[in-house]
Order: sequence, then structure tokens, then C-alpha cells
Amino acid sequence: MPETDAVVIRPLRSDEYASVCAVWQAAGLPTRAAGRDSADAFARQLERNSTTYLAAELDGRLVGVVLGTNDGRKGWINRLAVDPAHRKRGVAKRLLLACEAALGELGIEIVAALIEHGNDASVAAFESAGYQADVPVHYYRKRRRSDI
Ligand SMILES: CC(C)(COP(=O)(O)OP(=O)(O)OC[C@H]1O[C@@H](n2cnc3c(N)ncnc32)[C@H](O)[C@@H]1OP(=O)(O)O)[C@@H](O)C(=O)NCCC(=O)NCCS
Repeated sequence: MPETDAVVIRPLRSDEYASVCAVWQAAGLPTRAAGRDSADAFARQLERNSTTYLAAELDGRLVGVVLGTNDGRKGWINRLAVDPAHRKRGVAKRLLLACEAALGELGIEIVAALIEHGNDASVAAFESAGYQADVPVHYYRKRRRSDI
């Protein structure tokens, strides 16, 4: 059986914080451990997004994650990451499509993501899952602290 078929996409569990961080670290995604990626924040977010925070599991190990959120108007894809040892086998695409389906179950019909310039792998994964680039935007934000 090809590895991708053996990968199971399922909701994340509250005891998987360390494994999620390990996937982000292996994938090279910076983590705001004192802010929105802290253990407490993860637990709180998971309660609100229990069907859209998803894991890709292979042989009992997490090899990919995605955090799907929604603000009641749009869905958002956050923190998509796949362990480098398991890339280019369709895991990210499956995570994206499963996350979208789960958001759809909540009545969300538009899903968006912010991708940094130059992240070609991410662009390819999103485009492969049917996303289209919209007009270029400047991303503005206001933070209470620099570490969140
Ligand atoms: C982006 C990322 C999640 C893609 O994971 P992946 O499991 O390798 O992606 P998939 O195998 O599902 O690939 C989906 C499509 O993208 C293409 N693709 C994936 N990586 C690519 C790369 N480095 N260059 C070009 N195309 C790539 C695949 O060929 C595939 O195309 P196809 O469906 O037309 O055959 C992974 O590279 C990663 O974890 N990157 C670091 C974290 C990150 O940047 N996350 C995104 C934040 S927005």
C-alpha cells in the first residue's frame, strides 16, 4: 500500500500538543510558544475548533497538521505543516481538503489562507487543492505584545 493511503486524517486530540510542536519544528515553522502557539492557547483553540484542527497520522505518529479556524464568516487555514520525510506525497493536499470539508460542515463556504512571498511549496499545495491567488494585499496587524 502506498504510504499516502496509510496516512489517516483525523481531528487532533488535546494530549497532542508536543507532537504538533514537533511537526512544526521539523517543518521549519516558527512557533510563538509564549503566545498563540502556547500549550494553554492550543487547548483553548482546540475546544473551539475541535473538528477543524486536524492531524495526519502514519503508523501512530503525527506527520502533518493543519489548524482550521472560522470567524463565523470565513474559514482560515493556519499552520499547515508536513514533516519533511513525508512531503510531496499529497499529505498537505489531503489535510487541506479535509479541513475545508470540516469547515463546510459548520456552514463555512469560503476558506482563505495567508502565504508568505517565496513559499513556493505552500503555494503549490494550496493551488493543487483548488485555491486561487487573490489580489495582492498588505497584511496589517496589531499585537498586544511582540511574542504573541
Ligand atoms: C507546504 C507543505 C505543507 C506541503 O506539504 P506536502 O505534503 O509536501 O504537499 P503535497 O504533497 O500535498 O503537495 C501538493 C502539491 O504541491 C506540490 N508541491 C509540494 N511541495 C512542493 C515544492 N517544494 N515545490 C513545488 N511543488 C510542490 C506537489 O507536487 C503537489 O502538486 P500536484 O498535486 O500538482 O501533484 C510542506 O512543504 C511544509 O510543511 N512546508 C513548511 C511549512 C509551511 O510553509 N507551511 C505553510 C504555511 S502557509
